[in-house]
Amino acid sequence: MKTATPPIFRISGAKSAISCNDTDAVAVAAELTEAGPLVLKSPIAQAVADEFALDFTTILSQWPEFTAKAGELIEVPLAGTRCKRLFIIGVGSQSSADLRKAGVTLGRKVKGKSLTVLNGLLSSPESAVVHLNALALSQYVWSKKSEKKPAPCTFILHGNFEKQVKYSQTLIEAVWLARDLIHETSDEKNPAWMATATKAAVKKKNSAALTVEVLSGAALNKFGGLRAVGGSQPNPGPRLIQVTYAPRGSAHWPHVVLVGKGITYDTGGYSLKRGWEEMAPMKTDMSGAAVVMATTLAMAEVQPKVRVTALMMCAANLISGTAQRPSDVITQYGGTTVEVLDTDAEGRLVLADGLAYADLELIPDYLVDVATLTGAARVGLGRQYAAMYSRDTALATRIHEAGKRIGDNAWHMPLVDEYAEALHSDIADYAHIDRKKFGGGSITAALFLEKFVGKRRWVHLDIAGSGRSDSDSGENVKGGTASGVRLLIDWIASL
Ligand code: BES
Ligand code: MG
Ligand code: ZN
Repeated sequence: MKTATPPIFRISGAKSAISCNDTDAVAVAAELTEAGPLVLKSPIAQAVADEFALDFTTILSQWPEFTAKAGELIEVPLAGTRCKRLFIIGVGSQSSADLRKAGVTLGRKVKGKSLTVLNGLLSSPESAVVHLNALALSQYVWSKKSEKKPAPCTFILHGNFEKQVKYSQTLIEAVWLARDLIHETSDEKNPAWMATATKAAVKKKNSAALTVEVLSGAALNKFGGLRAVGGSQPNPGPRLIQVTYAPRGSAHWPHVVLVGKGITYDTGGYSLKRGWEEMAPMKTDMSGAAVVMATTLAMAEVQPKVRVTALMMCAANLISGTAQRPSDVITQYGGTTVEVLDTDAEGRLVLADGLAYADLELIPDYLVDVATLTGAARVGLGRQYAAMYSRDTALATRIHEAGKRIGDNAWHMPLVDEYAEALHSDIADYAHIDRKKFGGGSITAALFLEKFVGKRRWVHLDIAGSGRSDSDSGENVKGGTASGVRLLIDWIASL
């Protein structure tokens, strides 16, 4: 088994009759009130009470420890012909965050069980998207175990949720796709594999608005960063994979260019990482590329009046006779020279090419890069927030808000000009790392990238912390999270 497919959402119209025995389980919401926990009135709660002659007050009185805090759950056995269980789930005050927690609880509870669940947790469309995301994404699995993969769960909602379900499905599918690429092991995943996987995903979307172009070999001559890093694995060598969303008539729409770090494995190169604990997670070092690709593909469904181009900067950072050395000087796209000091700071080299190429050739209105760039980002913010850098405060605020809305967070960090001299080199235009030890490794990396964005409106997302989870928590399961996908889709949809 590699990955299971995402759960399925079905809607029974607001006017149709509800029969609990069409499903394996029913979930109803309990709210925290001054008088204690109370099962919320809803057509689904009514149906389960009628069909099974239940009195919720009596049931709840048997569970004195249940307070209806968001995410608390009681499982009550039912004597139905098909429907065998009732879940009473706390939704706290029914805030968006609470419905998100409730979604995660129910999602985990039924994970891998192939159940059909009548989901009565939503009373209005307001928080439906975050709730459905939580239900689905907390069920993500990826493994190479030989056992058969479970059939997905089905959740049936009752009410007018068509629009929300459709949008949620787009977000979930995009996160799922990115996570599948991120979890693939690097014995299979190299830059050529990334191109094949991208083409397959585009083909599956079956949209005339999406195109893919792959650059390799001599076509990458001007991309000195990609060549320097990717030269460590000459077979197959690096790839620049360009995915475009440009429907007919979109030539004058605003253009968003997304650049993703696509390091298919990061050993550190000659500046080798130490030990498996540092190195094993580095199969996920192409998360940025996966995120920008999945975001762009989702546009086929979201259909914003925006053109989107993803540049996936793919290379492996290995040790070999053709790998770069500390002290090399490389020439990035556009002619800037860079002194390479630490071959483990490879991400910024491939991104610099992508950013300069976007600035010089693609005329972006918005230029955004996504990368698992620095361990320092995780030290600063932990796992729940991507580190976001931009000179454009209004834009950063909008992106921050999109993240809060959709549950995929980013925190605006400062580009500290005083640290810029860290990038001084005696022999090249810039050094690529901070040899003066200012600290703030995520900031100096961002300052380096900024040298390549010209005058563009630029945002950098360092997802080194948020891109991986050490445990099942929230919508994330242990492993790659695809941090940034929901955030970027929701932001672009709002443009
Ligand atoms: N891919 C790593 C960053 C990373 C570290 C991502 C931990 C996820 C978890 C990146 O290529 C790297 O090695 N960065 C170095 C930069 C340093 C050499 C200036 C780092 O953060 O230590
Ligand atoms: Mg590295
Ligand atoms: Zn890396």
